[in-house]
Amino acid sequence: MKRFHSLTVVAKQQETRDALRIALEVPEELKPEFEFQPGQHLPIQIERDGKRLRRTYSICSEQGRWPLEIGVRVQPGGQFSEYAASELSVGDELEVMPPNGQFHVNLDKDNSKFYLGFAAGSGITPILSIAKSVLMHEPASRFALFYGNREQATTMFIEDLYALKNRYPDRLQLHFIFSQEEQEFGIAAGRIDAGKVVELHERFCSGDSADEAYVCGPDSMITTVTDALVALGMEADAVHAERFGAPRRAVRAARTDATASEDDTSVMVIMDGHKKSFRMPRQGESIVDAAAESGLELPYSCKGGVCATCRTHLRAGEVHMESNFGLEPWELEAGFILACQSRPRSDAIVLDYDKS
Ligand code: FES
Repeated sequence: MKRFHSLTVVAKQQETRDALRIALEVPEELKPEFEFQPGQHLPIQIERDGKRLRRTYSICSEQGRWPLEIGVRVQPGGQFSEYAASELSVGDELEVMPPNGQFHVNLDKDNSKFYLGFAAGSGITPILSIAKSVLMHEPASRFALFYGNREQATTMFIEDLYALKNRYPDRLQLHFIFSQEEQEFGIAAGRIDAGKVVELHERFCSGDSADEAYVCGPDSMITTVTDALVALGMEADAVHAERFGAPRRAVRAARTDATASEDDTSVMVIMDGHKKSFRMPRQGESIVDAAAESGLELPYSCKGGVCATCRTHLRAGEVHMESNFGLEPWELEAGFILACQSRPRSDAIVLDYDKS
């Protein structure tokens, strides 16, 4: 099972007026654990006012580059991001779990693929890592990136993107779309909606069929872009998506579950070769929260069904999973669940955190 490690902040840079780039030094002995697939994120934990706070942030650096860099959009009222903006300093340590997440590209130096990337706002963070890594490690692959923002001043990693374009002028297409700034050409103005995807695709990708697409942004943008790409002929499983947060319907679903019984369930957890058990009601808290009540800390970060930090294998028994934005269909078929979204539906369940 993955655990938190102390990593030192070795650089902190203002990306835009409301976004930061933070670099984390990984000690030599931890590098094998912190190797990542481009697109993955890091769960980070801090203590604030006696409370533990966890967030996940996508890695923006390319595969094989140290220190690891993450992008952080500073949200008004965001407990971690405001702390990072105002208090976190170079030399501080953060508790960081090794990279996680199924939204990633599988690099192969022999690939000759055409990739599409659609990002909105801070959704550029994992897409930047994917684009850099593809261009660097797959010399015959190409990448077309469409990046939506309100205005240039809030566009994250703009210098990195121009530098990438200069370095790979023939293999990278870079297109910005601004919703609140006038543009010389209409195609560069507005939002990335279904019509814009079709327009961009016709203008810049016609006659060129994309092998894979990576989409990161708010939930509505993800759905719109994914549906539009499938309508344009891409296979659904070639379109990979990463959401910022759980859509509202997931929260509503968690509150309206009426199928649970009031009986208790015995939960056995297999972790690092050891077995631990606790009991929990079938109604109410998720497995992650019930375990914490019993003094057993299971991995989690977002608790919203998005980041998949709580992923585990259901070896025996049944659960009801409220929502899932983090597991792929093959993982569901193989019996993986999100413990932060699951409640037992049988007398006993067995969760195997050692199975990957
Ligand atoms: S903690 Fe993020 S999906 Fe469960």
